[in-house]
Amino acid sequence: MNKARHIAIIMDGNGRWAELKGKKRVQGHEAGAKIVKEITTFCSNAKDIERLTLYAFSTENWKRPRLEVEFLMKLLEKYLKNELNTYIRNNIRFEPIGDLRAFSKSLQKTIQTIQEKTAHCDGLVQALALNYGAQDEIIRAVNKIKDCDDGITEVMLSNALDSKHSVDLLIRTGGDHRLSNFLLWQVAYAEIFFIDTLWPDFKVESLEKILKDFKKIERRFGGIK
Ligand code: FPP
Repeated sequence: MNKARHIAIIMDGNGRWAELKGKKRVQGHEAGAKIVKEITTFCSNAKDIERLTLYAFSTENWKRPRLEVEFLMKLLEKYLKNELNTYIRNNIRFEPIGDLRAFSKSLQKTIQTIQEKTAHCDGLVQALALNYGAQDEIIRAVNKIKDCDDGITEVMLSNALDSKHSVDLLIRTGGDHRLSNFLLWQVAYAEIFFIDTLWPDFKVESLEKILKDFKKIERRFGGIK
């Protein structure tokens, strides 16, 4: 039976969820943050799940209106500070991926503090993709190793990435069927589930159903049965 050791999620649909309810887009992000907590806590208690990577802010998201970007930054900082106890209580280690240098000093400090304070946790790893883009990640990795003498190997490049962990199950909520520059190297053999549910409506039961379907898939990794 397949094990979803590494789950990655493109959490899409916050804005549309809010608009459908006559609320402001940012209220959709606020509702989305609550789901982040619920799904992370569920994963930390699930037997086979070792890593959960969530797409929280992409290298392209800076193109959004200034106020929305500022709101997302504040929400992220608030979330990390407020949920430190949730991380510790559930033995969850927090790891950021992405280029953090673009963030304010204060947010960078908060990210570093939460990372340090959860470094001893050896249960689920929650990796938040922050100012993350897979193409940017690959370029930064290549630049780290480009001067090696014997040519770049697959293992070398993989180890130089922000996340060297291959994804078993990728979920995108919100109805679109694209990868949006998320973990392009790591999803090489991921099973991909595109679902219409908007992220703030995503529930633990939605994930349980996907996991049930995932377990039935025959994964061949390019081989034959
Ligand atoms: C996509 O929805 C979502 C984002 C760009 C941000 C994701 C942020 C959260 C889920 C909440 C904050 C996260 C944490 C970790 C505290 P969209 O705005 O593109 O929705 P739309 O496609 O309906 O416009």
